[in-house]
Amino acid sequence: MENNTLNIKISEKPAYSYPIIIGQDLDFFEYIKKYTKAKKLLIVTNKTIFSLYEKKIKADNAYYVILEDGEEYKNFDSLKKILDTAIENRLERRDCFVAFGGGVVGDVTGYAAASYLRGVDFIQIPTTLLAHVDSSVGGKVAINHEKGKNLIGAFYQPKAVLADTNLLSTLDKRQLKTGLAEVLKYAFIEKSCGAELNYRFYDFLDAYSEKILKLDSVILEKLILICCTLKASVVEKDETEKGLRAVLNFGHTFAHAIENLTGYTKYTHGEAVAAGMIMAAKLALKLEMIERSYFVKINELINKYELLPELPGFDKDEFIEAMHLDKKADADKIRFILPDSEFSVKMVTDVDESLIKDCIEI
Ligand SMILES: NC(=O)c1ccc[n+]([C@@H]2O[C@H](COP(=O)([O-])OP(=O)(O)OC[C@H]3O[C@@H](n4cnc5c(N)ncnc54)[C@H](O)[C@@H]3O)[C@@H](O)[C@H]2O)c1
Ligand SMILES: [Zn+2]
Repeated sequence: MENNTLNIKISEKPAYSYPIIIGQDLDFFEYIKKYTKAKKLLIVTNKTIFSLYEKKIKADNAYYVILEDGEEYKNFDSLKKILDTAIENRLERRDCFVAFGGGVVGDVTGYAAASYLRGVDFIQIPTTLLAHVDSSVGGKVAINHEKGKNLIGAFYQPKAVLADTNLLSTLDKRQLKTGLAEVLKYAFIEKSCGAELNYRFYDFLDAYSEKILKLDSVILEKLILICCTLKASVVEKDETEKGLRAVLNFGHTFAHAIENLTGYTKYTHGEAVAAGMIMAAKLALKLEMIERSYFVKINELINKYELLPELPGFDKDEFIEAMHLDKKADADKIRFILPDSEFSVKMVTDVDESLIKDCIEI
């Protein structure tokens, strides 16, 4: 079957563009040959993924770094392991780092690629749905610091993203759903992304929910293509997060507070985002930015995919405090991305705290 290719062009770097190739059972090494001049490859993955896909990523010219599995390994130690392996094996400027994994592997490998020899080529092979539709597109790479997530990082674009939907078949349901929360987010921000689609993404997700949940590969490829088109449209116009890119944070102001107050371990990011989108929709309704019918529509789609977790009763003052700590908050104003009409969002600051408190439930 023909693979879909989407070309990303960054307006801040007009000469720069790279493809996202979306298909099934892609021949990774053929594509790497096509898009880089690498003699040696440094493939970074984690134990879980390596044990599932060892054969698929074996190559004679590759060195491997197999990290432990978990967000806590998106850290300096993993960065050092990657750089040490590159140095020991004398990778050169023209060689290439390959991230074979979810967002954790993608972020740390990208950051290592950005810093090794002041930047070597980097290919993303995402293995989670979240990485297919979100973390592998856009060029944000980072590691965590004990004081906070993603505090050390860069904007560094890959040479290509190879999105193979077959890899998603081994994901567990919870990981699939965490990616789906970000997928649904694109439906609610569609009109603010500045891309022309042939159909409403909301309607697509509404119509094909069963096929999507069963990982129908043709529908999944379309879904990934749409999400990448929308994210790319935003990133192409605002690579380094000066403005438009904020629309991608729909639901995230509330989500970050949920994650922060529950120690980043109780909920997946997508569960927090699903709850955060409901809270943001509630706030928009209270601010009379949207009609009740649209509020219901948002709830219906999120419920159709069963994305919402059970939340504890949060202390509302602590919740507001956690929102202020979010690194995207201005000095002392909490920034929200809220729906302002169907499938469109805008940034809102200066919201009355008592109104926010009324929305901290789902
Ligand atoms: N750079 C960005 O723009 C961006 C955007 C969103 C999120 N992120 C980052 O992404 C990370 C989260 O990414 P994630 O949700 O992919 O988490 P992850 O990388 O931790 O992967 C989730 C789990 O799925 C397992 N897994 C991965 N692929 C698998 C497969 N094919 N089959 C079976 N199991 C598999 C992993 O081992 C892990 O246990 C966070 O660190 C977040 O900060 C970055
Ligand atoms: Zn997110």
